[in-house]
Parts: sequence; structure tokens; C-alpha cells
Amino acid sequence: MSDPTDRAVTIPHLLKKKARGEKIVALTAYDYPTALILDEAGVDIVLVGDSLGMVVLGYKNTIPVTMDEMIHHTKAVTRAVRRALVIGDMPYFSFHQTEELTIANASRFLKEAGAKGIKIEGASKKRLRLIEAMVEAEIPVMGHVGLTPQSIHHLGQFKVRGKETGEARTICADAQNLERAGVFAVILECIPQELAARVTAKLKIPTIGIGAGPHCDGQVLVFHDLVGYSTGYNPKFVKRYADLQTVIGQAVRTYAEEVRTGVFPDETHSYHRKRRAER
Ligand code: KIV
Repeated sequence: MSDPTDRAVTIPHLLKKKARGEKIVALTAYDYPTALILDEAGVDIVLVGDSLGMVVLGYKNTIPVTMDEMIHHTKAVTRAVRRALVIGDMPYFSFHQTEELTIANASRFLKEAGAKGIKIEGASKKRLRLIEAMVEAEIPVMGHVGLTPQSIHHLGQFKVRGKETGEARTICADAQNLERAGVFAVILECIPQELAARVTAKLKIPTIGIGAGPHCDGQVLVFHDLVGYSTGYNPKFVKRYADLQTVIGQAVRTYAEEVRTGVFPDETHSYHRKRRAER
């Protein structure tokens, strides 16, 4: 029997996929059973995103998410994954203080949680220096430009970025600077598809789009959005492939009804003592 880690997705595989024009499939996961399903379905990159805070932990945005929460959930994911490349997302304020602290936090994803790399939002000059330092410390880094949810208080609201020429140029330059700083891939979030196509053509590293149209080298979605297991606002770019919220709601209501009426548990779901003669 072949070792499943023989087929494990690596960064060189992702670069080859871009060169061959093969699309990269990425999804978020935050727990063991979901990560098992994604890995068995052949997803290439499992991102333990800080969207965790909104879709699983009930925060209003991603700002409150802590390093400890990210590590806890990344560990659950890496326990399940054999093939996919698991990437941990650096939460807000895990990289805003010193370079030493940033590297210490990033390395926790690899050393404690078993991830293969980290993702970090933004491309300011200071951020680029931090990325260079992390790459120098052998930490694979994925970039993230366009809409960067950790900047919510600065931006005021989540909206498409780069519709105007000036901002589009900045996003394109940011992605190129990230490539120069050593990231192995870059997330393009919520930008016009024409801009995503331009960035994708300019970079040697893969672009992974979310709300960035079909011309990226790969796509990522938040798992809970994909399966219809998230509450609240549903952005235009989300395609729901299932309606788990309805399915789970119906299952729970049926269970409650059966408990109240004594239908559950029945014979099939109950045990008996051994009879005297059987002892
Ligand atoms: O936190 C997250 O899940 C992300 C993806 C949406 C790219 O950053």
C-alpha cells in the first residue's frame, strides 16, 4: 500500500499546476470531520482561515480571533489531513508588534499545529519585511490582497476593491511586491475579474481567487458558505452547493418531536439486559 503522504500536495506542485494551467482547489476548514471530507475529496489547499471567528465562533468580524484559537483549530485540521497543503491564517495582531513575535507566532502553526505554511493579509512595506523574515526562517507564506477583512475598521465596510484605476494599480503592485518578498501564492479577494486576470498573468506564483472571477490560478471559498451552513450576509461571489442549515434544522426539529412524543428512542436504538439463561 502506498504511503498517502507520497501524494501530498507541496508548494512545487502548486507552481507546476500554474505552469500547466491546472486549477488549484482550496477551501477553508476548522475542524477534524470537515477536514477529513475535504482531504478525501481531493482539495489541494485547506486553509484554516481566521474566518473561523465569524463562521464558527460567532464573532462579528475576524478582529477578536486569537493565536490560541487558530492553533487549536489548525491542530484539529492537521490531524485529519493526509494529502492537502494545510495553511494557518495569522490572526489580527499576531504580526503587528515585533519581527521576533511575528516569527514566533508564525512558527507555532508549523511546530505546534503541523501546518505547512501561513497566510498573512496585506502588503505594506513593513508587512513585506516581515514576510521576508518569515521566508528566511523557512516559513512558507501565502499573501492576501484586495479585500483584507482584518482592515474592516479602516475600510468601514466589506466591498469590492480595485474598481478604480488607482486602487487597481496598487493591488497589482502589492501582489508583485509580495511575489518579490517570497510568498508562494497570493489570495486575491473581492476584486474585478479583469484585474485578477492581469495580476495572474504578471505573477509566476499562483493566484487563488475569492470573489475575483474565473481567471485566477485557483479558487477558495469559506466551507460554511459553500454548503449553506452560515448565517447572515451571503456575498455575490458565494455559490451555495448545499443547504445544510435547512437539512440540520429539519433533523433537529424531527428529533425534538420524536423525543417529546416518545417515538425516539425505540427498540432499534435501545439495549436489553442479558437474560438469566444467557449469563
Ligand atoms: O479567513 C479566511 O477564510 C480567508 C479566506 C476567505 C481567503 O482569508
